[in-house]
Amino acid sequence: MTVEEFNLQCAQAIEDTIVWEGVETVAAVIMEPVITGGGVIVPHQVYLDRVQEICRKHGVLLIIDEVICGFGRSGRKFGHQNFGIKPDIVTMAKGLTSAYLPLSATAVRKDIYEAFKDNSDSYGHFRHVNTFGGNPAACALALRNLEVLEQENLVERADILGQRLYSGLSGLLEHKLVGDIRSFGLVLGIELVADKVTKQPADLDIVKGVIAGCKAKGLIIGKNGDTVAGFNNVLTVAPPLSSTDEDIQFIVETLTAVLNGSWAK
Ligand SMILES: Cc1ncc(COP(=O)(O)O)c(C=O)c1O
Repeated sequence: MTVEEFNLQCAQAIEDTIVWEGVETVAAVIMEPVITGGGVIVPHQVYLDRVQEICRKHGVLLIIDEVICGFGRSGRKFGHQNFGIKPDIVTMAKGLTSAYLPLSATAVRKDIYEAFKDNSDSYGHFRHVNTFGGNPAACALALRNLEVLEQENLVERADILGQRLYSGLSGLLEHKLVGDIRSFGLVLGIELVADKVTKQPADLDIVKGVIAGCKAKGLIIGKNGDTVAGFNNVLTVAPPLSSTDEDIQFIVETLTAVLNGSWAK
């Protein structure tokens, strides 16, 4: 089937699950707009359109997790804006403070907020208690961080650098170990395979070897977690949004040298 048909089939699996579980028992679907830590898996536009349609049809809320994609990483302020969908709830964290201090936030549609209000009761609001909630230092830092993002046009910059990073590394698609290269804003994944046709994952030792090779040359990259057992074979590259042109060039040259060196073509 085509990529588009496959994406629609994946969305259908969500609807089948909602119906199987009983529509009235499903409060929400929660998803990242693009799976990042699981291997930089960028969906086709039809997938998100269809998931949104399914949620609306069954009265199920659509929660978009912007913990990684949010605050510019995707080349837009929020990852879901790349697809034009409208979530009911958005979760946020990392980029909110650029991780200088821990802070997270959840935004909800007005009517969801209002649903918790009850003026006849002094507890007529949504109460969520946590030990470090509302930490003033973290909030002050987040505000300053958002100012810097705007002042330095880091969202637009992420888009430009992401494209540059992808085009700099796309030549590696010819490499015998590389099954695919995917990017979304300034996050990029290189899928390492044992077989370019079947896409059978490369051995974990090879994945770790490439990461160690980069580290020895001063470049720290990551890999995806084992979201699906045996498929933690995607190198992940997500440099700071404030990276310089030279930083991006360094990443391209180092990754290329490591893959073409000890991991010969
Ligand atoms: C996509 C995504 N959502 C949520 C989380 C969890 O965020 P937190 O640690 O702020 O609860 C993570 C953590 O890495 C994440 O990558």
